[in-house]
Amino acid sequence: MKTLLTEQIAALLEENDITAALANVSACIAMSYDRLNWAGFYFVKGGELVLGPFQGKPACTHIPFEKGVCGACYRTKETKNVPYVLKLADHIACDSESRSELCVPVIVDDKVIMEIDLDSPCEERFTEKECAEMAEVARNIASAFCKHQWSL
Ligand code: SME
Repeated sequence: MKTLLTEQIAALLEENDITAALANVSACIAMSYDRLNWAGFYFVKGGELVLGPFQGKPACTHIPFEKGVCGACYRTKETKNVPYVLKLADHIACDSESRSELCVPVIVDDKVIMEIDLDSPCEERFTEKECAEMAEVARNIASAFCKHQWSL
């Protein structure tokens, strides 16, 4: 699904430095979606998930593949839309104010290389709209990753 937000992000992904590009992507998401308390990336690096560029409070820096919403997203290679994080025993609370979460895998050559992670202080914040937009952003990031020959 192409929208104004996904087109803006596609333009930001013309930047050829991975940190510079994804820092701006996280800022763009954070200022475009209301009711967010965190928006950023986890990179698949050294057999775990490692914090990447983000907007929000300081967050967990290393997440094992076995744990949390981010770990589940990695293992299943599927978007995780969690409407009530407090009901999920396996949720990792980086910010105690978080109530819902959306985690979307970025896939290159059939492998998850990073994840887009969004947190909200509101329950049920994420709908089909955000899932579809973030899936498009994930595809655009995968294309940029290959085009710019990024590595993690
Ligand atoms: N809640 C995530 C951890 C990352 S923070 O939300 C930024 C999880 O359960 O994996």
